[in-house]
Amino acid sequence: MALSKNRNRSYRCLIHMYRLRRSVLFVPGNNQKMVEKASRLRPDVVLIDCEDSVPEGEKEKARESLRSALTTHTWSSREVGVRVNAPDTPYFDEDLRVAVASGFELIAVPKVEGPEEVRLVERTLNELTRGKQLPSPKLLVMIETAKGVTFVDQILASSSLITAVEFGAEDFALSMGIFDIDRPETTLLYAKSRIAAAAHAFGIDPIDQVFLDLRNTEGLRLSALSAKNLGFVGKLVIHPDQIDVVNRAFSPSEREINWARRIVEAWEEHGKEGRGAFRLDDRMIDLVHVRMAERILDAERSARTS
Ligand code: COA
Ligand code: MG
Repeated sequence: MALSKNRNRSYRCLIHMYRLRRSVLFVPGNNQKMVEKASRLRPDVVLIDCEDSVPEGEKEKARESLRSALTTHTWSSREVGVRVNAPDTPYFDEDLRVAVASGFELIAVPKVEGPEEVRLVERTLNELTRGKQLPSPKLLVMIETAKGVTFVDQILASSSLITAVEFGAEDFALSMGIFDIDRPETTLLYAKSRIAAAAHAFGIDPIDQVFLDLRNTEGLRLSALSAKNLGFVGKLVIHPDQIDVVNRAFSPSEREINWARRIVEAWEEHGKEGRGAFRLDDRMIDLVHVRMAERILDAERSARTS
């Protein structure tokens, strides 16, 4: 009986809601119409882009969107951030200044290759927010070169502001001399696994690469599921049609939810008999499976109430 009580307690203690980052929608910042549209869509995160989707001559136009986006549109519970230009570009300082002054809670930093860049961003953020009533934003670092992948541990350890890490496959392929535009998922397996493992080691959310084939819904679904099986919690999306597919792929399936409920129930039952390992559907189940089931039920709850 005591054992069963403990089991109950450990399960309830673990129930928590966490911030979902299943779909992270990129919106070119110089396109006001798309920024407005993004506020009516249902991705978990929106990133207004000032970097590569905005041509040189339009950088100021993208900053105009930053100044108005949070006050003009309603974003409800969505996390809204900005992708600034990289720290070594002439746009970085002003992008960051406008993003912070406008109240964004998340800053995506592209092409991060070492911890010193993160420290520079952190220092600049401290200067911008010191003595002002401005929230200090969290960081999403983008690892998209061979160097970034090699130094991912040091990068992720360099600042407690880092809350998410994204794998930028296109730039990574360029840095590796991989030019096969239809490259299979397996080509990038090492880099992706490396980033996902490092992210979890530091309690950071790993977000998977974009999927460029806009009409290939099944390909997108499989790509998302394969990333999920590497440990990614979400995926970048670039078009409204990709949002639901990705949100679904990164939410527990009916099958997973049913499995999880049965495991928790069976664990309670077997606990009364003092058993820590038992047979269910001819498979051995023990504590680790109960922990997995709890995580699935937490994720289901968060997805249902998002
Ligand atoms: N965010 C918000 N709205 C978007 C959007 C996005 N990323 N992409 C498309 N839309 C909107 C369009 O404005 C259009 O709205 P409307 O029907 O109300 O007029 C609708 O969705 C359909 O768009 P569509 O005509 O199919 O898009 P397109 O063919 O003109 O453009 C892309 C395709 C890929 C160029 C475009 O989706 C895009 O720019 N995506 C973001 C790219 C990006 O940010 N890249 C950087 C990171 S990799
Ligand atoms: Mg890139």
